[in-house]
Amino acid sequence: MNYAIILAAGKGTRMKTEMPQCAYPLIRKPMVAYVVENVLDYFDEVIAVVGYKRNVIMDILGENARYAIQEEQLGTGHAVLAAEELVQDLAGDSLILSGNMPLLDAEIISKAFQDHINRRHDLTVLTTMIENPQGYGRIIRNESGFYLEEIVEEEEATVLQKGINEVNTGVYIVKNEFLFPALKQITNDNARKEYYLTDIVKILQKENRVIGSFSIKESIKATSINDLYTLSIVEAKLRHDINREHMLNGVAMINPETITIGHNVIIEENVVIHPNTYITGNSIIKKGAIIGPNTEIHQSIIGERVRCRHSLVYNSIIHEETTIGPFAHLRDGAHIGPRNRIGNFVEVKKTTTGSNTKAAHLAYIGDTTCGSNVNFGCGSITVNYDGKQKFQTFIGDDVFIGCNVNLIAPIRIEDNAFIAAGSTLNKNVPKHSLAIARAYQVNKENYLREHDIHKRKEDK
Ligand code: UD1
Repeated sequence: MNYAIILAAGKGTRMKTEMPQCAYPLIRKPMVAYVVENVLDYFDEVIAVVGYKRNVIMDILGENARYAIQEEQLGTGHAVLAAEELVQDLAGDSLILSGNMPLLDAEIISKAFQDHINRRHDLTVLTTMIENPQGYGRIIRNESGFYLEEIVEEEEATVLQKGINEVNTGVYIVKNEFLFPALKQITNDNARKEYYLTDIVKILQKENRVIGSFSIKESIKATSINDLYTLSIVEAKLRHDINREHMLNGVAMINPETITIGHNVIIEENVVIHPNTYITGNSIIKKGAIIGPNTEIHQSIIGERVRCRHSLVYNSIIHEETTIGPFAHLRDGAHIGPRNRIGNFVEVKKTTTGSNTKAAHLAYIGDTTCGSNVNFGCGSITVNYDGKQKFQTFIGDDVFIGCNVNLIAPIRIEDNAFIAAGSTLNKNVPKHSLAIARAYQVNKENYLREHDIHKRKEDK
């Protein structure tokens, strides 16, 4: 059986955040989630080694991994040893990598694995060349430069070794049968007093095992994220690559460096995305939609030819040819039908609408089931909360709701009803009815003029 062992037990002190390092998000998705996705299809089993705030990592990965607990973080070698009980089949090979390497994609991993098998290596170390190798383990080769002899950490490296630009990426492929006996021989007799996983090179060398390397050409793909600056660089690379892919598939992007699209977003062709737009989660943008500028869409489905600008859309579904914005906020299960108009400063929450419904300006629609051809006048509100509980509003088809109407839920407004502007309703309205709930207007004729005269007299 082939295993992928992901090291995710460390705190990540250099990140200087409370969150465990591997949980830190990259385009709104935890970095360890990318790592698991990249290995999931290629390996029989994924094992995550967890320790510091392990519940956070376990919540992210759920059933996509089995978990080995490393109670104390005593080094990378010690971390892999924690997975021993879960590696029950010694016949295959294991990939070992860190949970903070989101750019190490499935293509590189599968090529390296294939190379390891073809060359019959017992251990393959994935290396790369970088300009500034500070902080990385250096790859020490024999005089011919062919054989990998050992990996020396920064703390133990001589001045000469520090000048070596070939570094250890922290990714290894190793035969299961040799891995654990080698790990048990590692000591912490070094500058950091840690059990270095890198020491397995020397140990397997002594046992005359076949050790080779696989070089990653594009070194940025092997980046481990250890601080927030590196995170920003990796995020920029990821953003660029994702956008490039979409543009080549027929998505137009205006000013693409300001557009952020998540890893799992699906965008169909003929979509146009304007600047300062974020689309994340498992969102789907269908053909012909025009999105942005200044728009955030998360975990939502946007229908064909929808126009959505200057707006926020979270966990919602919008059907075809609806226009959203400017400055609309749709959230928590807003399900907007086709050809609706949700306009300026309109908030919609946990609400479904039929077709051709309009709320063009300044409205709040929450916990509502609303039919087709409904007009919400400017300033109309579903009053869904009494300070303790939320209540439902039902609105049928062809209803006209005048400006500044309050519908105090629970309430039902049946088909073809007409609600007069300024009404505050707390009773159901039957079909075809006109509902008015406001004080009658009184005009006191000449009142002001008389009042004015009195005033002038007083002034004298
Ligand atoms: C390690 C390598 C170094 C390599 C570098 C690449 C060792 C000794 N050194 O550096 O040669 O160039 O990666 O980034 O392995 N972790 C645990 N438990 C622990 C310690 C670490 O799970 O006890 C996890 C961390 O959460 C992290 C990963 O292992 O995801 C790597 O740990 P880190 O401390 O960043 O690696 P280094 O030792 O600095």
